[in-house]
Amino acid sequence: MMIKKRSILCSLAILALAKVVFGIPYGFNNATSSNKIDRESAATSQGPSRGIFCSSNPQEDMTTIELIKSFGYPAEEHYVKTEDGYVLALHRIPGKKGSAPILLHHALLESSFVWIINGKEKGLAFNLADHGYDVWMANSRGNTYSKNHENLSKSDSEFWDFSWHEMGIYDVPAEIDYISALTKDRLLYIGHSMGTTQFFVMASQKPETAAKVKAMFALAPVGYTHHIKGSFGILGSMLTNIEEFLNIDGRREFLPQSSWLHFGGSCVCNKPILRTICENLIMSTIGFNAQQFNASMLPVILSHTPAGTSLKTLMHYAQGISSKDFRMYDYGKEKNLAKYNDEKPPAYNISKIQVPTAFFWGKNDFLAIPEDVKRLYDQLPNKIASVEVDHPRFNHLDFLWGRDAPKLVFSRLFPLIAKYR
Ligand SMILES: *[C@@H]1O[C@H](CO)[C@@H](O)[C@H](O)[C@H]1NC(C)=O
Ligand SMILES: *[C@@H]1O[C@H](CO)[C@@H](O)[C@H](O)[C@H]1NC(C)=O
Ligand SMILES: *[C@@H]1O[C@H](CO)[C@@H](O)[C@H](O)[C@H]1NC(C)=O
Ligand SMILES: *[C@@H]1O[C@H](CO)[C@@H](O)[C@H](O)[C@H]1NC(C)=O
Repeated sequence: MMIKKRSILCSLAILALAKVVFGIPYGFNNATSSNKIDRESAATSQGPSRGIFCSSNPQEDMTTIELIKSFGYPAEEHYVKTEDGYVLALHRIPGKKGSAPILLHHALLESSFVWIINGKEKGLAFNLADHGYDVWMANSRGNTYSKNHENLSKSDSEFWDFSWHEMGIYDVPAEIDYISALTKDRLLYIGHSMGTTQFFVMASQKPETAAKVKAMFALAPVGYTHHIKGSFGILGSMLTNIEEFLNIDGRREFLPQSSWLHFGGSCVCNKPILRTICENLIMSTIGFNAQQFNASMLPVILSHTPAGTSLKTLMHYAQGISSKDFRMYDYGKEKNLAKYNDEKPPAYNISKIQVPTAFFWGKNDFLAIPEDVKRLYDQLPNKIASVEVDHPRFNHLDFLWGRDAPKLVFSRLFPLIAKYR
């Protein structure tokens, strides 16, 4: 009950925060030229200046590529174009010639930085590179590194007319086709949260792309969202209810990387007393587990995340809370009839997913809830293993940044990956 109360309080705080963040002019430039690659960073968008009371870790202002190099690894940036015109950045720690390519796909509101920010010893990308893999990190359309389109600019509402459905049928295939063509090999795939959702969409809709994947390793898998808890669950059910009244247009940007959050991270959350509040806000969405989370990483984390998506992406997840199903986007009866020839959007057919798949999940994860995870796993035709992390309070983000992630997750993940490399 204590947690429920904390979650409700935190939801209110997040709503207020989102409103502030929505209302702020971001200083977008007009990215209309099609071949100009435009990248936002907290450092270049306008916002409050950070003064002497703020932390000043140089990592706060580095891009993923700069961060990788700062840890002493080689880094490459590649761009791929999707069938529907989005230009996505792929970040790579290249392996030796002939090493097995592995694609890492981040969660909602994140970017490629999640795999490296906790350094050489604990970052999953570095661990994989040390084990001899050719490591690729994706960036979903609309995030900090993937805001370009051949004809649209990010100030057009059409640019934001996507959810993880389009990421699944366009982004993931473009990335996989590009990497497998370049490396002349099939890929391994690791997804975290939305990185798994997109994969399930792809694998159930695009068997010709799925055939290029040797195996999929899903950290905190999300398909069904019916049981989602915490402030996201509360906000999600609110969102679907309000949506009908307000006729919300999901075609807009949601929580981009922002100098205001960067300011919050390095000037507010850097104070030990206030850190607990920041920590609670984040934990209320993902599951409370202060023991695994290193709160002194907050200034750096908040300077890179949230990394932006469309509001529609969030609404698509929220729809699963009330529909109880893993379905395509629900546009309302009339539009559904026109689009899907049915009043209800079609469900993704999990039994079509032929890629061998392993699940890793935590008991205290508010977003990938054990009941929902199990339901999805049971429907998969080609199972490798369903691994429960051996920690009673392991949560959604502990897969990335948990103090003991190497011991609790990587040590069990790596032998499984090696079997399929
Ligand atoms: C963006 O485009 C609009 C309309 O074309 C123009 O009025 C405005 O000055 C441009 N802003 C920048 C920053 O170039
Ligand atoms: C972008 O515009 C060009 C020229 O009009 C067109 O050929 C192309 O199909 C468009 N791309 C997309 C993804 O709509
Ligand atoms: C926690 O994070 C800080 C800043 O990134 C780092 O210096 C410290 O070593 C970390 N502590 C542990 C126990 O990982
Ligand atoms: C799902 O896919 C399986 C295997 O291709 C097929 O047998 C089944 O009819 C499909 N189910 C639906 C509801 O389309």
